[in-house]
Amino acid sequence: MRAYFASFLAFSTLTFSLAAVYKDAESLPNTTRFDFVVIGGGTAGNVIANRLTENPSWKVLVIESGPTNDGVQGSIIPFFYNGLQKTIYDWNFTTTPQQGLNGRIVDYPRGHILGGTSSINAMFYTRGSSSDFDRFAKVTGDPGWSWDNLQQYIRKNERFIAPADHHNTTGQFNPSVHGFNGINSVSLSGFPQTTDPRVIQTTVDLGDEFPYNQDINSGNPLGVGWAQSTINGGRRSSSATSYLATEFIQRPNLHILLNTRVTRLLQTKNSGSQTALRTVEYAPNANGPRRHITATKEVILSGGTFGTPQVLLNSGIGDSSELKAIGIQPVHHLSSVGKNLSDQPSLSNSWFVNSNKTVDSIESNATLAAEVLRQWQLSETGPLVSTALSHAAFLRLPDDSPIFRDYPDPSPGGKTPHYELAIRNGGLTSEPGHFIGIATFVSTPVSRGNVSLRSSDPFDKPLINPGFLGSPLEMFIMREAIRGAIRFLAAPAWKDYVIGPLGPLQATATDEELDEYIHASANPGDHPVGTAAMSAKDAEYGVVDPDLRVKGVSGLRIVDASVMPFVPCAHTQAPVYIIAERAADLIKKAWLV
Ligand SMILES: Cc1cc2nc3c(=O)[nH]c(=O)nc-3n(C[C@H](O)[C@H](O)[C@H](O)COP(=O)(O)OP(=O)(O)OC[C@H]3O[C@@H](n4cnc5c(N)ncnc54)[C@H](O)[C@@H]3O)c2cc1C
Ligand SMILES: *[C@@H]1O[C@H](CO)[C@@H](O)[C@H](O)[C@H]1NC(C)=O
Ligand SMILES: *[C@@H]1O[C@H](CO)[C@@H](O)[C@H](O)[C@H]1NC(C)=O
Ligand SMILES: *[C@@H]1O[C@H](CO)[C@@H](O)[C@H](O)[C@H]1NC(C)=O
Ligand SMILES: *[C@@H]1O[C@H](CO)[C@@H](O)[C@H](O)[C@H]1NC(C)=O
Ligand SMILES: *[C@@H]1O[C@H](CO)[C@@H](O)[C@H](O)[C@H]1NC(C)=O
Ligand SMILES: *[C@@H]1O[C@H](CO)[C@@H](O)[C@H](O)[C@H]1NC(C)=O
Ligand SMILES: *[C@@H]1O[C@H](CO)[C@@H](O)[C@H](O)[C@H]1NC(C)=O
Repeated sequence: MRAYFASFLAFSTLTFSLAAVYKDAESLPNTTRFDFVVIGGGTAGNVIANRLTENPSWKVLVIESGPTNDGVQGSIIPFFYNGLQKTIYDWNFTTTPQQGLNGRIVDYPRGHILGGTSSINAMFYTRGSSSDFDRFAKVTGDPGWSWDNLQQYIRKNERFIAPADHHNTTGQFNPSVHGFNGINSVSLSGFPQTTDPRVIQTTVDLGDEFPYNQDINSGNPLGVGWAQSTINGGRRSSSATSYLATEFIQRPNLHILLNTRVTRLLQTKNSGSQTALRTVEYAPNANGPRRHITATKEVILSGGTFGTPQVLLNSGIGDSSELKAIGIQPVHHLSSVGKNLSDQPSLSNSWFVNSNKTVDSIESNATLAAEVLRQWQLSETGPLVSTALSHAAFLRLPDDSPIFRDYPDPSPGGKTPHYELAIRNGGLTSEPGHFIGIATFVSTPVSRGNVSLRSSDPFDKPLINPGFLGSPLEMFIMREAIRGAIRFLAAPAWKDYVIGPLGPLQATATDEELDEYIHASANPGDHPVGTAAMSAKDAEYGVVDPDLRVKGVSGLRIVDASVMPFVPCAHTQAPVYIIAERAADLIKKAWLV
């Protein structure tokens, strides 16, 4: 990444001939005029920055709280995907005590780095079901959000490429449902796992319950398929490495300010009848000076499901009485801000296996770890090009499941799973040993929670209450997911391989035993959405309209996971990319009349 810093820019007050990456708030010349200011250089924000700067006459500034992703090994090497939590690259959020988790306070990681959470996530590429997007279209009244109408944006985002090991991928995906000319690289695993043949054999042995799905990204994810990941050869493909790749970051009209927190939005003076919020206040740290900058056209808020409501609430946009109670002057009453938080509860399950050819060996044997790191350094091949999350199974409860006597089906359509099994050739535990891991997710949660402020200090962490597992329906689905994983591993393909579970994961476990295990061990699925949800233009709830404009004010749009009114049955990065690609088009159309 090329960087041109303060001393150089201080004298360049009119137009720049080169793009700039500023390392701190003091370096940004406050005399520059920007057409658009993007808050948050994360998954969505970098898509917006890239697409808007395709127009050479628009100048765009991205303000990112975290540091650069450049050279951060934990963000580059796929196998190290878990390593950036609780470091300077993580916001270190936690939940409030969760009743559904035995009162536990649990970690809620989010990327604090250029690329945002796409720089620290597990890289799974899953779009969800066609019904997930058709439901977005239905609740917003905008057919533009439907699965069919979003295909062009899926393809603008996706660049499906060969995996690092160039193995024969015939039959492991369906080329007709992929994009090959987009910006963000997606690939099948570049390193085979010893468990792969057993997983595929299980789809033969137990094909009725676990049918093989050649491509879980066709709009119908049901069944067991090969994992697709945002990996480019041996490296992570994040929004920072893809949408801000050298060819883009060199654009003279693209400017990125790092290590700088947006504290709030201010009302822009002399801007007509509606409250205009195009002025952004920012600071290097809690005690640093507050500065501000005004976008001439729009501010795009892309702070993520926790960061976006935090900025809105700090700006006085939210429920007026709740804001007054913590000493914030209300500016615009919008009671849905921070509400309707939704995420998929998840559980990490591990079984001891009769083999040491699992990735646990890399994690426990320093000699082996050094060998595979050296291989990666020499050729960007070997086990470190993969997360070892090899397959996903997306499954539905049976239509005649007894739970549907008491609760309506929470899924938006028959091709939508109620739960997911994510299969890894290694443990999902810090216990020593050799394991197979299966993470279980409730794909269709119904609990709703919220994000609120602790105080009027924008550097205080927000209170995050997802209300995990608040519904008996979710407990039922999680129990069924665990039992599904147990049945999966009981297939003949795993005979002599699986020794037994870590924890009470016996086929004979009672509901009570499983509930105890779930309450004690479940965690956030890390797919939170909904805190600045889109809704129909005339709806009495919601934060943004179907064009992602904040309701009742001017100059402000929201583009990130927070606008999703429901969590799709997916890991959420692909849906975020898809939404951001369409949002960029909506913004372009709005300004090119
Ligand atoms: C550990 C983990 C694993 C995951 N694994 C997967 C996976 O395998 N597959 C998948 O599809 N999804 C995964 N996800 C979820 C997925 O990565 C997210 O849904 C998605 O990246 C969110 O994108 P976003 O644009 O909404 O937010 P982000 O990408 O988080 O972007 C928000 C950006 O705004 C910045 N920001 C916030 N507030 C401010 C402020 N006040 N001032 C300045 N900057 C600010 C942040 O630093 C960040 O860069 C995972 C998430 C986590 C945490
Ligand atoms: C998160 O915690 C780590 C470890 O304590 C710390 O170094 C880092 O600065 C924290 N991140 C943020 C954004 O404060
Ligand atoms: C890849 O595998 C398929 C079937 O599995 C086979 O038909 C095809 O010839 C193979 N391609 C190459 C290049 O080996
Ligand atoms: C711009 O910077 C100058 C010099 O640092 C400062 O005096 C001025 O107040 C700043 N203006 C704004 C709008 O922040
Ligand atoms: C939450 O979303 C539902 C629709 O799914 C809506 O009826 C409700 O009003 C929303 N609540 C808030 C506070 O926005
Ligand atoms: C695996 O086990 C075999 C035999 O038990 C042993 O020889 C070998 O060193 C082990 N390999 C690793 C990587 O642990
Ligand atoms: C650790 O890995 C090395 C290199 O593969 C292997 O030779 C050794 O046997 C392993 N050690 C153990 C204890 O398994
Ligand atoms: C926030 O969510 C929690 C969990 O669902 C709920 O108990 C609480 O009433 C909500 N608070 C507000 C103000 O909406």
